[in-house]
Amino acid sequence: MLAFRAYLRGLIAARHARPHDDLLGQLVTVEMAGDRLSEAELLTTCVTLLTAGHETTTNLIGNTLYTLLQHPDQLQAIRQEPARLPNAIEEVLRFESPLQRNPRRLAQDYTYEGHLMGKGDFVLQMLGSANRDPAIFAAADHFDSQRQPNRHVAFGFGLHFCLGAPLARLEAPIAVQLILERMPKLRLAQPTAQWMQHSLVRGLASLPVVF
Ligand code: HEM
Repeated sequence: MLAFRAYLRGLIAARHARPHDDLLGQLVTVEMAGDRLSEAELLTTCVTLLTAGHETTTNLIGNTLYTLLQHPDQLQAIRQEPARLPNAIEEVLRFESPLQRNPRRLAQDYTYEGHLMGKGDFVLQMLGSANRDPAIFAAADHFDSQRQPNRHVAFGFGLHFCLGAPLARLEAPIAVQLILERMPKLRLAQPTAQWMQHSLVRGLASLPVVF
């Protein structure tokens, strides 16, 4: 993290020296009601944007390939009709949610299934679990690439709904479509891939394929 912040400090200094019309250049000069981002706020915002925007979408792409390769009939239908891909990616967001949990501090006391949680307590919203809730999703543990409706919460909900959801929804279909086009014979090299051992992020450590 220290190295990451030092790297960003260099980029920020360069933007101060020479204004640039990219995102960082705009953040450096942004002003709201005469107030600017302090350096600490700027660094934290950049770290958030870079990590939130990179790791998640990378894993969505990997999770999509793995899940589709495990469901060859559905993959075949998508190859024949690429317009089906965006729905399939929504289903991967539900089925293998790249971000598994959100941290929250409770604004008031709350009792859930007999468990009292107090105001100020730190709790985790389990997004991956909510996305398999049988009360919401029929056959929740079944991957249905054309599931409708599919009101998953993989991008969170409410005030903090993912800022980058539209970008992720642009990037992932482009990447997956190109891989499918370039590798018409793509298949798994072994029946199961290896997941990263991580309680926040759901993504693959490796995905051996043959093409
Ligand atoms: C598959 C890709 C992605 C997934 C699954 C994902 C997931 C999420 C989730 C669940 C939240 C809610 C966090 C909370 O409520 O505490 C969130 C927030 C956020 N995401 Fe994403 N994200 C993705 C891609 C991106 C991208 C591409 C960017 C930026 C380029 C991004 C930037 C952010 C930011 C800045 C927030 C905080 C929003 C706020 O607190 O108001 N995300 N994301």
